[in-house]
Amino acid sequence: MEIKKMYEIAHEYQQRSYSPYSKYKVGCCVKDSNGKFYGGCNIENASYSPTICAERTAISKMVSEGNQLIDTILITGDSEFTYPCGVCRQVISEFSDENTKIIIAKNENEYREYKIKDLLPHGFNGDDIDV
Ligand code: THU
Repeated sequence: MEIKKMYEIAHEYQQRSYSPYSKYKVGCCVKDSNGKFYGGCNIENASYSPTICAERTAISKMVSEGNQLIDTILITGDSEFTYPCGVCRQVISEFSDENTKIIIAKNENEYREYKIKDLLPHGFNGDDIDV
């Protein structure tokens, strides 16, 4: 699953975090279904609400490059284990399937692995609209 490589990418992007308000740095690495990697960091704003999380930065890069399925997403941040916020769980859900792996990493050796149904049980998705 290339945890070491994905952690290194996420950690590198964590250093690029623009977070002068919270001073909380988050990094993310997405591997798409074709094996391509995308890094992301959180990008804050003086007006606060335009802030984008690291996960959505990386996922936006994946989708805008033409892939819509996350194989694996790894998140690392300033907490021992940084879990995705509710908005990011919803966005991960949009571009996941039942095999998508969500890795919450303290470092390359210590991490926890989940599926989207673990982090967003009973979620709302496109099937609900397709009635
Ligand atoms: N943040 C993320 O980048 N990802 C998350 O899932 C949790 C929160 C960022 C947003 C904000 O810049 C900072 O962490 C503090 O909330």
